[in-house]
Amino acid sequence: MMKVITYGTYDHLHRGHVRLLERAKALGDYLIVGVTSDDFDKQRGKINVQQPLEERIAAVRATGIADKIIVEEYEGQKIDDIKRYGVDIFTVGSDWVGHFDYLNEYCKVEYLERTCGVSSTEIRSTKKQRCGLVGYTDYMNRVYAECGLVNGLEVVAICTKDRSSLSKNSLSAPLITDNFNELLDAVDLVYIHSHPDCHYEQVKKALEAGKHVMCEAPLAKSAAECDELFSLADERDLVLMDSLRTAYSTAYARMLLLVAGGRIGDVVSVDATCTNLNTNRPPYSLSHETAWSSMAAWGPTALLPIFQILGSSPESVQFSSLCDLKDKAFDNFSRISVEFQGAVGSAKVGAGAKSEGSLVVSGTKGYVYVPAPWWKTDYFEIRYENSSDNRRYFYQLDGEGIRFEWVSFLRMIEAVSEGTDGEEALRREGGIERDITRAICEVIGSFERGDHVRYMEVHK
Ligand code: CTP
Repeated sequence: MMKVITYGTYDHLHRGHVRLLERAKALGDYLIVGVTSDDFDKQRGKINVQQPLEERIAAVRATGIADKIIVEEYEGQKIDDIKRYGVDIFTVGSDWVGHFDYLNEYCKVEYLERTCGVSSTEIRSTKKQRCGLVGYTDYMNRVYAECGLVNGLEVVAICTKDRSSLSKNSLSAPLITDNFNELLDAVDLVYIHSHPDCHYEQVKKALEAGKHVMCEAPLAKSAAECDELFSLADERDLVLMDSLRTAYSTAYARMLLLVAGGRIGDVVSVDATCTNLNTNRPPYSLSHETAWSSMAAWGPTALLPIFQILGSSPESVQFSSLCDLKDKAFDNFSRISVEFQGAVGSAKVGAGAKSEGSLVVSGTKGYVYVPAPWWKTDYFEIRYENSSDNRRYFYQLDGEGIRFEWVSFLRMIEAVSEGTDGEEALRREGGIERDITRAICEVIGSFERGDHVRYMEVHK
């Protein structure tokens, strides 16, 4: 019996796929189809496959062409599969010509002519969401580049008061304006990376104008403001999402799962440090002359693992802030001490100071160590008393998590437009849950209001 094997993603199964499967089957007597897992697709750079693995498998099965369906999960698996199933012919479409010649060592390799005029990519991008970016730091350039990798998205406008920070690539956006209203008129959705002082007003305005919003944390400066914005979004069937790219890095997300699964026992402490020497002092902000304090630049990121691991209802929050006592709003370095029932958290943030930017989650059986810079890591370790039990975990980090955050945002927009509740859509996408967003807003707000803050003069 002649066995044939072929692989693909089969997102929104189309006639090109079916024709390929039919011809593959005709090459022999028995056809094995490898459908790529969601994780494997992510690893190889296919970031916005829309249908989950089960749906893609079901669609291939429904064609009735495959004799066996397997899941492709890792690089190098093709060789394993060919040996394991005694495959005679490996085949894929002509878009892969040459790419799999190395398999000739194990079986015959045949490339079949690709069907013209149809592809999953095209199906996914039939309706492009028009997107506007708002902000003025050079981080916008990274976001602009990442957006280019996401299907179904087109950056049509950038709102900035400082064009000098935009790269040549970003300047090629169709509309560059310093007028937020003009940007809103041109888009379906907005990404806001302006100074945190401007977030609440800008998010509100964008929602009132009927636009979906992804805004860098903190969304607002109090839980009440945050609730108000979420209600506004829900009333209008709009997505409002907190942006913190760390939450979308695979290593970070897997670390949370292992901790939740009890791998280090009961968590007693979460300690996160985030610092950089760039004080992010912009030439000006959208509302007034102001620099990014340590808390504005890093507070939300450092608080994220504390709330995600220990819960969003701390018993107490206290701050120690090193600052110029004449300008308390600008902290050079701060520590946030958060107490929970049976656990403590601490976040150290510094814009203009340098420290080891690591994350340590301590438990009753062992601890997690995420090395610097933990907020964009691809690696972590679980360490135990007996070091031979230690485990290391490596993952690929593409685009610092930015592209995955955008894919989630778009998927949430789709789910909400189809009638899914905003909070439910967020949960399904593994986004930052609303109670976490709310807790972050409350903590940043109370720091700025001076609640429970001990100020100390910084060395000059
Ligand atoms: N294929 C084909 N003709 C098409 C599209 C795909 O013969 N018009 C083949 C591919 O060459 C591959 C298989 O179908 O052997 C599965 O392809 P897959 O990558 O899942 O589909 P694409 O439509 O190419 O997806 P994308 O646009 O995301 O790359």
